[in-house]
Order: sequence, then C-alpha cells, then structure tokens
Amino acid sequence: MTRVTDTATWSQLCRHHAAVADVHLRDLFAKDQDRSARFAASGAGLHLDYSKHRVTDETLRLLVGLAREREVERWRDRMFAGEHVNTTEDRAAWHVALRSSSPPAEVRDALARMRSLVASLHQRTLRGASGAPIGAVVNLGIGGSDLGPRMATRALRSFDAGRARCRFVANVDPADLDAVLQDLDPATTLFVVTSKTFTTLETLDNYRRARRWLAASLGDSPALREHFIAVTANADAARAHGLVDERILPMWDWVGGRYSLWSAVGLPIAFAIGMAGFEQLLAGARAMDEHFAATPLEANLPVIAAVLGVWYIDFHRAQTHAVLPYSEDLHDLPAYLQQLEMESNGKRVDRDGVPVPYPTVPVVWGMSGTNGQHAFHQMLHQGTVLVPSDFIIIARQAAAADEEAHRHLVANALAQSAALAFGKDEPAAPHRNYPGNQPSTTIVLPQLDPSSLGALLALYEHKVFVQGVIWGVNSFDQWGVELGKVIARALGPLLQGGAADGVDASTQALAVRIRALREGR
Ligand code: F6P
Repeated sequence: MTRVTDTATWSQLCRHHAAVADVHLRDLFAKDQDRSARFAASGAGLHLDYSKHRVTDETLRLLVGLAREREVERWRDRMFAGEHVNTTEDRAAWHVALRSSSPPAEVRDALARMRSLVASLHQRTLRGASGAPIGAVVNLGIGGSDLGPRMATRALRSFDAGRARCRFVANVDPADLDAVLQDLDPATTLFVVTSKTFTTLETLDNYRRARRWLAASLGDSPALREHFIAVTANADAARAHGLVDERILPMWDWVGGRYSLWSAVGLPIAFAIGMAGFEQLLAGARAMDEHFAATPLEANLPVIAAVLGVWYIDFHRAQTHAVLPYSEDLHDLPAYLQQLEMESNGKRVDRDGVPVPYPTVPVVWGMSGTNGQHAFHQMLHQGTVLVPSDFIIIARQAAAADEEAHRHLVANALAQSAALAFGKDEPAAPHRNYPGNQPSTTIVLPQLDPSSLGALLALYEHKVFVQGVIWGVNSFDQWGVELGKVIARALGPLLQGGAADGVDASTQALAVRIRALREGR
C-alpha cells in the first residue's frame, strides 16, 4: 500500500504547513470577511461551522485532495456495499445496513422482535417469574455493548416514555451492579445481557451476580429466564449460559461493537423512548449516511471533520482532541467517542501490517459544558498545548426547559469558542494575556431529538472511517485489547496464592503485596 506520507499531496501539505503554521485566526478573519459563511456546511439537519480553524482555502483544497488521493470515495462505497473493509478480520463493517431504508432480512427480523418486546414492556404484558410486570431494565454489557446505548438513553431522556427505569452496568467491580440494584425489585427487573462474543469476563460475571440476586428472592427456578434477554452474535454461548432462544436477539460479525447501537444492542434505548423513537434515531443516521455517500467531498461533513483532524494531528502534531457538548443530556458523549475514535484508529501499523511513521488518532477527551469551563478550560486558554475541540450546541431546548438558563448555556459555548480562537492581548499583564488561536469546530443541532442524535453519531462514525482510510489503518479491529485480557486470566491464580508462569517481577511483587493486604497481613 502507498503510504500517505509518500503521496504528492502530503508533500504539498508539508510545504503549505511550513508557510501557514503560525498564522493567527485573528488575521485569517481580518483578511477574509466572508470566512464564516464559506467555512460552514450543513447536512442531515446538522450545521458545521469550521471557520475557527487554522486553515485557508488552499489548506482545505489540499486536505480534501488528500482524501481523494487516498480513495476515500472508493472505500466509502465498498463499506456501504458490505464488502470486507475490515481487512484483518476479513469481514464487512456494515453498520450502515442496520439503518438502511431497505435493510437485510435478518435486520428486519431483529427490528420486528425488538418492536414486539418494546410493545409488551410498554403494555405491561412483559412479566417476570412471579407474574409482575417488568418495570426496570438493567443492561449488562461493556465497551460497545454499553457506551452507545448508555449515552443515547441519557441523551434522549426527555423522550423517555417512563415505562421502565433503564440502567447500565459495565464494570466487573461489584460496586457497579450493587449500586444499581439497590433500589430495584427483583420481581420487576429485566436484565439485558449484551455481548457480541458472550465471552466477556465483566459481562458474564455481572450476569452470574444478577442471577444470584434474582434467585435469592425469587428462588432458583427455570422461570428466572423471564428476567433475561441476551443480545449476542454467539447464541450457542448464550444458550450454554441458560438463555433460551426466544430471548436471544442477534448481532452479526459484520457489526463492530462500537458501531452496534443501531442493532438490538440499542434495545434499552427502544425500551426507554419507544420503537418509533428508535426508528427516528435510525432515520437520522440514515440521513447522514446519505449525505456522506452523495455529497462532494468539499461539502461533506464527515470528510471535513476528518481532514481537519488529520491537519492538526499530523501537521500541527496536536496530541489530543476535546469534545465539549454544551448539553447535560450529552454528558456521556465524550466517553462514547473515546471508544469510537481510539479503539478504531488507535493503530500503529497499516492494513498491510507495516508500521506507520506518522501519528494516528489523538487522545479524545472532554466533558459537558459549562462544567468543563470550571475544570480544564484554563489550560485551553493559557496552557502550552494545542487542543482542537468540537463544541456541540443544541439550538432549541425541550419544551419544558428554562429559556433563560438555556440562553446562558449557548452564550457560554459561543463565548468559549470565540475566546479560544481570538484571545485577548494584555501586553502589560502576561498573566491575563489570552494568546488565542485554539481552533474549534462548532456543531449545531436544531434540537436534541432521536433524529439529530442519529445524524450526529453517524457523522462521527464516518469521520473516524475517513481518517482510517487516509492513515491506511483498519478502523474495524481492536487487537490491542487482547493482551491485557490474557494476562489478567493468568494472574487470577496468583492473586489466590497460587503460581503463575511468565509473570514479570514487578507484577508478581504487586500481586504478593495485594494478597497480603487482602488477607490482613
Ligand atoms: O475489549 C474490547 C471489546 O472487545 C470492545 O471492542 C467491545 O465493544 C467490548 O469489548 C465488549 O465486547 P462484547 O460485546 O463481545 O462483550
């Protein structure tokens, strides 16, 4: 494969970067009255302002040219066609099929099964072992089997039909499950065990603990099956763990965990907001898919977001990227994007296995505004590192909202991006000087509803995909998470006082010290 650094456009970008690296956003705006209109684009109901970036028309021409030279359009079409773009695992990455207007039959069937489960929960005919209607749903899952549905359920909480309390448990730390179960009634609690592989330690441990919790009050009978649904691509393993076929919803190997909230993995979202709401979420993502598939790269939202990232990561050598949603409902978006971006593109070899000599994904981090302003914005304004950020603004708040407070929220988002970009010169008082020139994108959603959330998430998914294509890495595997799992398994016996082979001296000593403390020695 040709390395991106060996392309003609890359060399041009290097020269261009040397010429414009120090240009200040103040000057770019002063010289160009038209900038805010020109460096903005819309699609699938979202508006993207990227005028506050350290780019010129030439920068964007070259960056989009780079995307073209890396054959982003061909890879995009291959992904949409369900071809095996996940090269190291020889599979499709076909999450777009989950929200297509003509989905494959198995997707339609899964949606029908979800619809019927959601209807029975909402009509209170979904009952537990004692015959009591289910009133609480606890999702047991981790990573992609947790972060997406957790984030979306919170994001859409103003659409919650109030038929069931939806909770999420991910951590193998029993404190997570214990805290959630504290005020739940076993007789009316349903667990959704979500695991693509059905081999994930955390989820299986939590499943066993949940079973014990139910059995302690309802008795250990086959009727406990009424309290479980599994969502998995490994139905055999689910059956081996006591799940019954009618309660096993499918996943497929062509959907990556972090791209799976559009499948039955999104069942908790559908339980919370209803199936019609879930379908609007799919429709919003579909609108972004259509935009991505059909819009020229120059006006294509995911492509613009992707190439701006490449500009900062590879040319300005920024090492982090902040996500700042000005919305408490989007509180969990940064954590969700951490997995989406860093598990997808946190790669050091290309699709052929050859090490890449350039940085790939940055550290993605963030917090909902305005809270972050009182935590880390000091560093953004006056620290020494370049941090490109995404501001996410919701134009209209849900009907019952406090208009004035919402105005304050939006004013703060706009104020922060302006202060970061333009700063303020205080030559006589260096401690009060704001250098500015911190770049940001502002994404505006008309309102936070299922459709605009779907579009926003699909925008990020495709951004990640485009970046992966430009860098030449496979965005759809995650081999990097395996080693730690293997070592953890080997350490189990050591923590119980046994022996473990091949454990380094430091880890061995720590295990011995921890065991002594556990035993009160
Ligand atoms: O450990 C990483 C990972 O494999 C993620 O990619 C995945 O989303 C998560 O674990 C959970 O996996 P599963 O759905 O198979 O339990």
